[in-house]
Amino acid sequence: MKVLVVGNGGREHALAWKLLESGKVKQITCVPGNGGTAALPRCQNIALGVNDFEGIARFALVNNVSLVVVGPEVPLAAGITNYLQDQKIPVFGPTRQGAQIEASKAWAKALMLEAQIPTAKAVVFNNAEAATAYVKAQGAPIVVKADGLAAGKGVTVAATVAEAEQAIAASFGGQFGAAGQTVVIEECLTGQEVSILAVTDGLTIRPLLPAQDHKQIGVGDTGANTGGMGAYAPAPLVTPELLARIQREILEPAIALLRHKGIDYRGVLYAGLMITPAGDPKVIEFNCRFGDPETQVVLPLLSTPLEDLLLACVEQRLADFPPLEWKAGACACVVAAAEGYPGEYQKGALITGINAAEADGTLVFHAGTQVKPQGLVSDGGRVLCVTAVADEFDAAFAQVYAALSQIHFDGIYFRSDIGHRVRRSHAVL
Ligand SMILES: Nc1ncnc2c1ncn2[C@@H]1O[C@H](COP(=O)(O)OP(=O)(O)O)[C@@H](O)[C@H]1O
Ligand SMILES: [Mg+2]
Repeated sequence: MKVLVVGNGGREHALAWKLLESGKVKQITCVPGNGGTAALPRCQNIALGVNDFEGIARFALVNNVSLVVVGPEVPLAAGITNYLQDQKIPVFGPTRQGAQIEASKAWAKALMLEAQIPTAKAVVFNNAEAATAYVKAQGAPIVVKADGLAAGKGVTVAATVAEAEQAIAASFGGQFGAAGQTVVIEECLTGQEVSILAVTDGLTIRPLLPAQDHKQIGVGDTGANTGGMGAYAPAPLVTPELLARIQREILEPAIALLRHKGIDYRGVLYAGLMITPAGDPKVIEFNCRFGDPETQVVLPLLSTPLEDLLLACVEQRLADFPPLEWKAGACACVVAAAEGYPGEYQKGALITGINAAEADGTLVFHAGTQVKPQGLVSDGGRVLCVTAVADEFDAAFAQVYAALSQIHFDGIYFRSDIGHRVRRSHAVL
């Protein structure tokens, strides 16, 4: 079978790598891919944009692609699935209607309320005056969220009313374009965040292993939010009992209501959860696609062939699919970023040492790289996701950090404390 993967990050490199593991996938094409996918056997990159639906459809039809897997949220929200389905191309990823669960936080919140899914209390506003009056009345801490897609920059967890007011003014002032002309103002939750990536065919939903990521740039989970600086799975915080509760109280009601609304959702439903100090799961947000970097730590532990699972979702036969099989052990990932990220940073730095880093079985997923005549160069803020599987977290992280010490590029930055909650040596920070 031939598969086309849409996207160019670490998530898409991990998807392509996993799909190639079984002999059934003869060829993968990444649109546009990166330096990592370019180097995979039986894998090619083509230089089309992720929003070039016509080009992607034409390629898929001419080359008999039997499955398109969409990585990022932007083409999903723009309707890539609707476009490909119209041409009878099998695609893993929800339609534009389903992708609203990520593309509009107000829409998602309304869905959660209707389905009685536990989540932070929230009110939606369409103008700055009313929003400001509300935060003044509520007091801080309080959370201000731009409604639409804002590349991970649309949320402010405001410690003071002044900070919340500033966020409201910036959002309605056009900082996020149309995405910020509606805001959701939310109760501030405390606890630990976990990511549950679940796959669904619109009728049945199955969670993958729970993961935790580190969103902030600085050691001790401080500083600006990023796309994710590292992750690990399985997150021990999510016991089998808690996962069963998440399935019953969150995942199943979400899919049932989507279906009731006539939305045929086939793809990943990703629940970003806060586990409150009392141990209750509450939804912070839903995403409509695989998480990045969570995918990089979940897929290496999956024993079930990924293409079989994704096809079962696309062909709506997940109920009959055998239980997912997982490798024992722990998977750790640390992101190597460019100095300055998530602010301004340089691209084009020459990267060396990846072969040496991979010699002991470490997986180096490329997040932002490109092959140039002079060699492999950085091409994004997050550059590499260095990943290892071992019997336990201490060994997995030790392997990742040893591998990172072999990798060089100008301005390389990574956090030294990824996994501090699950590493003995970093048990308390
Ligand atoms: N209600 C909330 N209480 C506390 N923290 C929150 C809340 N909502 C969001 N956050 C924090 O802000 C981050 C980003 O919010 P999220 O809703 O996931 O938006 P996005 O990922 O689209 O930026 C979350 O990962 C979490 O750390
Ligand atoms: Mg989020």
